[in-house]
Parts: sequence; structure tokens; C-alpha cells
Amino acid sequence: MYDFLTCPDRTKSFSYKYKDMFDKNPDIPEGVIPFSVADMEFKNAPEIIEGLKKYIENTVLGYTAPSDGFIEAVCGWMEKRHDYHIEKEWIALSDGVVPALSDLIRSTTDEGDGVIILTPVYYPFKGSIEKNNRKVVNVDLLHDDSSYTIDFDGLKKAAADKNNKLIIFCNPHNPVGRVWTKEELKQVYDICVSNDVFIISDEIHNDLIMPGYEHTVMANVAEDAGKHMAVCTAPSKSFNLAGLQTSCIIIEDEDRRKAFINSRAKGHRGVVNALGMEACRVAYTECEKWLDECIEVIDGNAKYMKSFLNEHFPEVKVYPLEGTYLLWCDFGAYGLSCSELEEFNIKDALLFTDEGYLFGEAGKGFERFNIACPRHKLEEAMQRLLNNSDKIRR
Ligand SMILES: Cc1ncc(COP(=O)(O)O)c(C=O)c1O
Repeated sequence: MYDFLTCPDRTKSFSYKYKDMFDKNPDIPEGVIPFSVADMEFKNAPEIIEGLKKYIENTVLGYTAPSDGFIEAVCGWMEKRHDYHIEKEWIALSDGVVPALSDLIRSTTDEGDGVIILTPVYYPFKGSIEKNNRKVVNVDLLHDDSSYTIDFDGLKKAAADKNNKLIIFCNPHNPVGRVWTKEELKQVYDICVSNDVFIISDEIHNDLIMPGYEHTVMANVAEDAGKHMAVCTAPSKSFNLAGLQTSCIIIEDEDRRKAFINSRAKGHRGVVNALGMEACRVAYTECEKWLDECIEVIDGNAKYMKSFLNEHFPEVKVYPLEGTYLLWCDFGAYGLSCSELEEFNIKDALLFTDEGYLFGEAGKGFERFNIACPRHKLEEAMQRLLNNSDKIRR
């Protein structure tokens, strides 16, 4: 059994998430943790720590090319964990999935072209489109009180517009927590490919799938589907390695792959992080058991939080956590404005979440809780919420 009970003290380790919390409210008492940015409040797998120590003792940290062991580990993991067969040469490296989004946008579209996103969605999708002078085309997801689905009619309409050349799709979906079914993915794929819309499938959360759900790689929905997309993967969410900035962008089509690599080369960004590649190799070859236990803890946290909120805050709609460690909750019933809700969180309940409005219009009134933390930290947070319940029900 691995240790998922200790909450590491990150207050002095320059974590972005903590810095942001203290910027928002400098008077935070000791022990309060944030639930915002998507990294985990767990120690890294001991295999990764030991592996990196051994690596550092035996190497020189100069510019480093990907080792055979690293590339084989990526191929092996995709095959074993995701039934996704990839050839070594399809892997293009990037210093993160978010930077890769910009490179892909630039290499597959022209300025002014439309790029489709299904909102609410991870906010750098919109930011990357805008920063590269392309047009954001929002298609809102559909939802009722218990689940989200894709607006296929809306997507068809957007894809049929010849100005729209690309979709950035989130699979599994951050923030709504859906693990899309193969049937849903096939429909998205058919709509996009029949309209010549290239697909970026951001699968950074691909390993964080809760019991009872199954992740399908977008490239596995049809024969040759991989030729019409870039599949973005990384060990950074699954194994809490975001600070090492190493991700694998799998692009089957050679021309598209070269164009992506060229886009990176324009900024002289050819090499990636030596420690990141080694940590990824160790994670994919030695840490599967750690991941399985981690998923159990996250699933338990989601169930705990849902039942707590159902009991004490029945007005809050908690959407099922099928994948990711980001629980999506609708606080709209309290009728607070976005700034009132945020103020309540920051000043009263001392809850530092990602506010729903960050994910687009469709996220207003929602809160995204990062629940990758030891259970007792979540219990403390829920207790703070309960202690302040009169203030949210004004
Ligand atoms: C859907 C999605 N893509 C990308 C990222 C970040 O990727 P990276 O740190 O590799 O740039 C996140 C982080 O939360 C995410 O949720």
C-alpha cells in the first residue's frame, strides 16, 4: 500500500496553487490547502523519487535526447493501458500539452480560421485560440441535473462552416468529468472528418478513469482514425509530474507531424526536460500499482464529497466523476453572482477552487474542486463549508 494519507507541506515549495491561494487571501491559517490548479496533494510515487535520484547520480544534466527506454515505455503504456498501438516515430515531444496546443493551432490553421471547443472547457483552449489570432467557436455541452452530453446538432452546424478547420476536444473532459463513450467519440469523429475538421484530442487525463468507466482513445474509434488527429498525452496528471513539463503528442500523419515539429523549431524548442523523460519512463514502467491505488482514493473522495453535499447542501448539483480528479458542482441554486460566490469561498469558507466562470459562460455558478488530496483535507474543507452555510444561503 502506498501513502495517500500524508499531505505534503507545499507552502514553502513554490507551488503555483499555494502562491495563488496566499495572493488571494494572505491570512490563511496553517493547514488549509487549495483545491484549484490540477496537481495532486500526494507525494510522488517512491519509485519515481528513487528513479530520479539514481538517474541524477549517473548522468550529466546536459541537453538530452529521448532514450530508447523512454520511447518504448510510452509505446508500451499506450498499448497496455489504453489498447492504443503507436509507432515510435509518431511521438512528437513537447514541453507540455498547453504549449503543444498553440503549436498545433499554428501548424493546422491560418489566422482568422475558426477553432471549435465544447464548453465549459479547460480555459487555455480558448486562450490558445485567441492568442494565435484564430476565432473561438463555442458549442455548449448539453446538461441536465445529473449528466453532460454533446450537442451533436450544434457540432454538426459548427463543423459544416468552412471557416472552422479545427476542434480541440477534451477526452476525458475537464471540467465536467465525463469519460466519453466510444459511441459518442465516433459521432464526434464522423462529424469532424466528414467536414475536414482536424482533431486535437487532449487526453492528458486518460489514465484517471474511475471504476466502472472505460476510456477510449479517440484514435481507436475507427480504422485509420489516427490520421485525422493529434492525441495529446502526458504522465503529468496521472503521476503528478506537471513541474517536469514533458508530454507526448502522437501524430500519425507525417506531414502534420513535421508541421508541428517545425512550429516548435521556430521557437528553438526542440529539446525537452531530461528529468521529465526519465520520470515518465519510470512512471510508465514501474508505477501502475501506485496509479491504481491513487484512483481508488480519488473515487472514494468523490463519493464522500457527493454524499456530504447531498446531505448538507442538497441544492448543490454534483456531477458524477467518471474521470479526472476534478469534481464539477453547480452552486447556482443559491442565486449568488460569480463574484459573490468567489468572495464567499475565499473569505468565509476558505475554499480555493477553480471558479466555474473561468471555463466559459456555461460554467457560471459552478465550482471545480480538485479532490486529489488526502481524505482528511477534504473533510476539513467540507466542515468549513458547513460552518458557513448560513452565509451562502442568504
Ligand atoms: C485538459 C488539460 N490539458 C492540458 C493541461 C495542462 O497541460 P500541461 O501542463 O502539459 O501544459 C491540463 C491541466 O490541468 C488539462 O486539464
